[in-house]
Amino acid sequence: MSKYDIRISSDLEHSARECAEHIAALLRDGRGMLAISGGNTPKAMFHLLAKSGLDWNRVHVFFVDERCVPPDNEASNYRMAKAALLDPSGVPSANVHRIKGELEPAEAAQQYVAEIKTVFGLNSGELPAFDVLHRGMGADAHTASLFPGEPLIGDRTGIAANVWVEKLKMHRVTLLPGVLIAAKNTVLQAVGADKAEPMDSVLYGPEDYMKYPCQIGTREGSRAVWFVDEAAAAMVRQRA
Ligand code: 6PG
Repeated sequence: MSKYDIRISSDLEHSARECAEHIAALLRDGRGMLAISGGNTPKAMFHLLAKSGLDWNRVHVFFVDERCVPPDNEASNYRMAKAALLDPSGVPSANVHRIKGELEPAEAAQQYVAEIKTVFGLNSGELPAFDVLHRGMGADAHTASLFPGEPLIGDRTGIAANVWVEKLKMHRVTLLPGVLIAAKNTVLQAVGADKAEPMDSVLYGPEDYMKYPCQIGTREGSRAVWFVDEAAAAMVRQRA
């Protein structure tokens, strides 16, 4: 028995379906504060989640991170989410809380923090607890826009901040570790052979958040659920 909750599917399509069903079930009751990630993997899952029959009037959609580009730019996480999830689901636009990637990065982060505080009704120093925080993992074990070596990986009190990602030569805005840890439910998607090794290091390697940022909120005792395909699970399978 693995000490982690890892749901392995034959391929991306099946994994996306399982993940969408899981998220919909978590959001079915009560208010739904959902934070979504970008990248390539979530697209199929978003399409299915949009058709899940959820009452989208009760769901608020936030972003785990955003690239500092305008919302119609090809790299924008909002743009992808809008096409795959927000438009097809019919979630009211007042329930969509995007990170304004078109602004100066520090200003975008500040505005995003202010919006989160308002919607969650937070007092100073409090962190939001998302009902579902959906994350991805890069082949370098980054998660959100917390890349290996990022000094903010040590931050446990902030809500969101702008970061400079040297390897991509790009500004981004990201939720911070304290918020990833505070999530009521963490749902991870990882698909493809290039995720096998980082996934193994994240779950079974030495604890080193600077080297494996995806360890934040996913190690023993966490309530993270992984939705992966056979290729990504190739190494962790042998640990079970
Ligand atoms: C982003 C992300 C990021 C993503 C991983 C995995 O904006 O890129 O939110 O953290 O989840 O890079 O991305 P893939 O699914 O494309 O591998």
